[in-house]
Amino acid sequence: MSIFNNPIKGALGPRHQRAAPGSSHGRARVIVVGNEKGGAGKSTVAALIATAMLYQGKRVSVIDLDLRQQSLSRLLANRRRWLPAAGVSAPMPLEYKLAEDPAMLADDPKAAAVLFHEAVDMAMTNSDLLIIDTPGSDTAVARAANLQADQIVTPMNDSFVDFDVLGVIDPVSLRLLRPSHYAQEILHARAVRAEHSRRLDWLVLRNRLAGADTNNRLRLEKAMSALSEDIGFRIGPSLRERVGYREMFPFGLTLADVAAKVKPGASAGARQAAREEVNALMASLQIPGPAPESTQPRRVLESPAAFEERP
Ligand SMILES: Nc1ncnc2c1ncn2[C@@H]1O[C@H](COP(=O)(O)OP(=O)(O)OP(=O)(O)O)[C@@H](O)[C@H]1O
Ligand SMILES: [Mg+2]
Repeated sequence: MSIFNNPIKGALGPRHQRAAPGSSHGRARVIVVGNEKGGAGKSTVAALIATAMLYQGKRVSVIDLDLRQQSLSRLLANRRRWLPAAGVSAPMPLEYKLAEDPAMLADDPKAAAVLFHEAVDMAMTNSDLLIIDTPGSDTAVARAANLQADQIVTPMNDSFVDFDVLGVIDPVSLRLLRPSHYAQEILHARAVRAEHSRRLDWLVLRNRLAGADTNNRLRLEKAMSALSEDIGFRIGPSLRERVGYREMFPFGLTLADVAAKVKPGASAGARQAAREEVNALMASLQIPGPAPESTQPRRVLESPAAFEERP
């Protein structure tokens, strides 16, 4: 396993090493960003949360469990290169990579899980917040991640086509007919965690909202609110479709970085509206300090259940 740290010590180190108010050693809160559907915005949201929390003074670690695509990891690699080249100072999360070439682990789920648990163990003692990005498919290591999660954040595209990631709904009443495979995984993780007196908060948010889509949106909102009661998730604030969410990938930056000194692109007005969305998302995570249950040093939950066959 390798750990990538801040390559620009003067600019980034002190900020990263400073503990957040109220936090203490050995109590990282774990946020898993997941959705079995591809392209829903998981990596975008994971990067946003990680960078925004760095600016709040939190010590942030990340693990990219999308072993083949490694989008979050590539964004951070871009960040490591771009910041010093541009002479810009910005905070950097600690990244735990399961291997030099994580794709090699994609076909070896047991090895991936062992390395993952080691990484979580280290990250928990080195940070206030651990953000885990997951692939757009059901993998054993992503299931193992759900068991570690204090919180699962699920971005989903603003479309009924994407609703089946949550459950099958009755077209007339818009009520739940049966939860999806993914929802069942999360409910299973919630039940396992409850046995260890640990909570799992599930936040679902709609991503890539289009401008003029009022009728579809109202129906979606109604269906989502019914599902949130039936399945047991909170509804987070939405993110609109904005160039600002994707244009800074080559620089390894997100909208949370945009400030007076960091502006690789243009269009400040549009970014302001987006920043407000990002702030709403951060507020919805409800991360004041350490999680209430974290009065004891945290231990990694072993997850043999992640390897059980599921129907
Ligand atoms: N709100 C948004 N506005 C504009 N573009 C967005 C937004 N959210 C995500 N994107 C873009 O949509 C694409 C998919 O996003 P992203 O890679 O974050 O999804 P993902 O769920 O991680 O996908 P995968 O399942 O393949 O890992 C990317 O090109 C990203 O830049
Ligand atoms: Mg991704």
